[in-house]
Amino acid sequence: RKAVTLHKLQEMHASGEKIAMLTCYDAAFASVLDEAGVDILLVGDSLGTVLQAEPTTTPVQLADMVYHTRCVARGNKTAWLLGDLPFGSYHASPEQAWHSSLALMQAGAHMVKLECSDWTADTVRFLTQRGVPVCAHLGFTPQTVSALGGFKVQGRGEAAERVKAQAKAMVEAGAQMLLFEMIPAALAREITAWSPVPVIGIGAGLGTSGQVLVLHDMLDITPGRRPRFVKNFMSGSDSIAAAIRRYVAEVKSGQFPDEAVHAFT
Ligand code: KIV
Ligand code: NA
Repeated sequence: RKAVTLHKLQEMHASGEKIAMLTCYDAAFASVLDEAGVDILLVGDSLGTVLQAEPTTTPVQLADMVYHTRCVARGNKTAWLLGDLPFGSYHASPEQAWHSSLALMQAGAHMVKLECSDWTADTVRFLTQRGVPVCAHLGFTPQTVSALGGFKVQGRGEAAERVKAQAKAMVEAGAQMLLFEMIPAALAREITAWSPVPVIGIGAGLGTSGQVLVLHDMLDITPGRRPRFVKNFMSGSDSIAAAIRRYVAEVKSGQFPDEAVHAFT
């Protein structure tokens, strides 16, 4: 296939063709995912928990993200490559965010993702004005799990207005993609219908422009309890490549997620 571009992702959002995204941390998986038709590879800071066995993503270092982004970039041919800015690498100032983004882009990222709240618009504007495409991660933001008081659904009830205002502020600041983690499906659907840019969901129901899961969760090799929004795609598949192809097919057809099972109200 031809290389996935921001323009192509924008077209998919506009036409309703679902975007399939998975996390990826190394070259071997990058080539399997790319060939299976995954549109976006996310070098997630979830590598802190998945690869480094840390309790949260908070301790992940920028150098770790640079290393894994370079590995994924080498294995990938056509997928859009999104790299996470880890906790502490963009909080001090827009300039700090710029230097951290530069390191990820020099390692091969096409776009950076940062976890957003009420303070992030200036940083998103600073980056996008200078040619760094930005994905704004909203809703539940794992890097600040301590401040949020645990792994909790965000944007319920009166908190919905704040999530909507944050999404609007990020788009106005130039974000070219939004990602919502663990918000009610109806809220994600409403924001996606309004959003001029693609919206990716994890635990956000079926109404977004696309879906993402942590690779090791959907391959069922993460130890311990799985979040509600995870589906095991290895079960019933006879190879990793087949499991990934099934994930892509189920996202594209709207079979995954099943809102009764994988979503929140
Ligand atoms: O790091 C990660 O894997 C993520 C996804 C959960 C969206 O940010
Ligand atoms: Na992340």
